[in-house]
Amino acid sequence: MAEPAPRLLHITDTHLFAATDGRLRGVDTHRSLAAVLKAALATGAPDAVLATGDLSQDESAGSYRRFRGLLTAPGVPVWCLPGNHDAPALLDSELAGPPFQTGGSISLGNWALLLLDSTLPGDHGGRLPPAQLAWLAAALEEQRQRHVLIALHHHALPLGSRWLDELGLYNAADFLAVVDRAPQVRAVVAGHVHQASDIDRRGVRFLTTPSTCFQFLPQAEHFAVDTRPPGYRWLQLHADGRISTEVAWIPPPQ
Ligand SMILES: [Fe+2]
Repeated sequence: MAEPAPRLLHITDTHLFAATDGRLRGVDTHRSLAAVLKAALATGAPDAVLATGDLSQDESAGSYRRFRGLLTAPGVPVWCLPGNHDAPALLDSELAGPPFQTGGSISLGNWALLLLDSTLPGDHGGRLPPAQLAWLAAALEEQRQRHVLIALHHHALPLGSRWLDELGLYNAADFLAVVDRAPQVRAVVAGHVHQASDIDRRGVRFLTTPSTCFQFLPQAEHFAVDTRPPGYRWLQLHADGRISTEVAWIPPPQ
């Protein structure tokens, strides 16, 4: 019998508000997330949901309660980490307890997922402080026997968009040095960039995923909004370390 291959739904940059009709760049972010979940779940329940930050736009408890409301419904684990628009302490307290887990490590068959916090207070760019890098190195040491997927908010590799690459992971070199010492790392998954990318670096797949609300124009010198609709990503983790992945888009909710 084939070994199980968990299927994860990756959503990111939901940018929710406490207000019922909060809009960002013209998109009702709550309706948009609801529409993404409906479209994704129509193709079958995932084994878990991975949410890589900027869950809130207004840093309110209410915005996390709205996230909780929508993400409790699928009845599967929801693994979260914060982004630059989040209030990490509020995120932790409002999304405490099952089905939610914020940060830490998760074992899933032949795989381990490691969730990092790359937020830097008062800054839209990110940094992994020494404690996070040390935790990552120790977790990788512990998970020598498993394939590893690392998730964080900020992108570690440049995507060719000057303004956005200036707000990436400031100490990407430190992070990549840790990754380079761990041959069992298969993928690094991020949000923040509101666009899809899939880059192979020394056999590790660096993936980013569209936002569930609006997108940034790829390859742009200055900030610019793309016309692409809300999106999400499927990640299937095969027992032999391979990853099948696919980005999906939905029609923008009216
Ligand atoms: Fe972000």
